[in-house]
Amino acid sequence: MISRWTVVVDRDDLTKTDVLHDELPGLPELDDCEVLLRVDRVGLTANNVTYGVIGDVIGYWRFFPTTAEGRGVIPLWGFADVVESTVDALPAGTRVYGYLPMSSHLVVRPKLTSSGFVDAAEHRTDLPSVYNSYLITTSDPAYDPRLEDLQVLYRPLFMTSFLLADQLVDNDCYGARTVVISSASSKTAFGTAQCLRDKGVRLVGLTSPRNVEFTKSLGLYDTVLPYDAAVDVEPTVYLDFSGSADVRSALHDRLGEALVKDISIGLTHQAASQDARSQFFFAPDQLRKRTADWGSAGLAERFGEAWRGFTAQAGDWVGIARHSGPDELIDVWQAVLRGRANPDTADVITF
Ligand SMILES: NC(=O)c1ccc[n+]([C@@H]2O[C@H](COP(=O)([O-])OP(=O)(O)OC[C@H]3O[C@@H](n4cnc5c(N)ncnc54)[C@H](OP(=O)(O)O)[C@@H]3O)[C@@H](O)[C@H]2O)c1
Repeated sequence: MISRWTVVVDRDDLTKTDVLHDELPGLPELDDCEVLLRVDRVGLTANNVTYGVIGDVIGYWRFFPTTAEGRGVIPLWGFADVVESTVDALPAGTRVYGYLPMSSHLVVRPKLTSSGFVDAAEHRTDLPSVYNSYLITTSDPAYDPRLEDLQVLYRPLFMTSFLLADQLVDNDCYGARTVVISSASSKTAFGTAQCLRDKGVRLVGLTSPRNVEFTKSLGLYDTVLPYDAAVDVEPTVYLDFSGSADVRSALHDRLGEALVKDISIGLTHQAASQDARSQFFFAPDQLRKRTADWGSAGLAERFGEAWRGFTAQAGDWVGIARHSGPDELIDVWQAVLRGRANPDTADVITF
């Protein structure tokens, strides 16, 4: 038997956490077609908090179910190693990247693909496929063992940055001269700013007063303002990563008709607010469009080029803080959840 730990959170109060311990059967008790993964290295950012805040709406609690009443397991992105396997193509020692639980181990039922596998476990079949795919590192052209920290932190976020910026450019920025970006200190926001540099629009970052200096230091925005400052009145697209109803209303009041597009991407302020004036950004739509326009290989090539440009700089923007084990994982969770984490430091946890 294999000892497993799992961090669970209270689904109605994300500040309440527990570490559960149980035992998993290893070989020979693993079912045919099952593989046991040992989770090794993950990143944790505000994006993971969003999975908890809207866990019921999108189904994020259903990826890694727990029997603990009223609790849930927060998904993370990272690397895991095959430790026991009934699948010849995935022998012990195979390293994979994908969606992982706050837990030391995960049993998957792999359906092989050209670059890895999809977890075909029954409880995941009707969940969005992008979260069910795992890449084998040796089959992933973008994998670089020296960049594992950057990959666990940024890769799931940068795909959104890349597609969002691409949607704007694809639509001539809706005729805007300025793009205003909230939670400008967040990784997904500044990744988007990096993709929009030199695209002929002025980039204005809105952030909390305490994060103004850091956001300026990135050198990615033309102007950085605290949330309560007034923006210039000119044709503007708003990219909202904060989800703040107050910031949205203030922008609409000030810009009026000059606010040509209002796009909602995130909710770092942790209040799910819906507003008919804002259009939700759904990355898979732009992904589908560009797959049709460029083909899968063309898209992968363009993303790869943007990703290499981003990772070449990202290491200078944000330092890495390392942590290990369930207790330190909980400490990081509490800091990120409460907005205490500093944007100049990103957290990587080894299990
Ligand atoms: N739709 C999609 O496909 C998609 C994909 C990726 C990410 N996202 C979303 O984009 C957002 C940013 O994610 P990330 O992982 O890039 O974030 P991150 O780098 O961890 O962002 C940290 C920043 O978020 C703000 N923040 C964090 N916690 C807060 C709190 N408790 N109260 C108020 N502000 C807080 C602060 O920025 P400021 O001071 O600058 O506000 C902080 O510097 C998330 O909501 C995420 O879900 C959406």
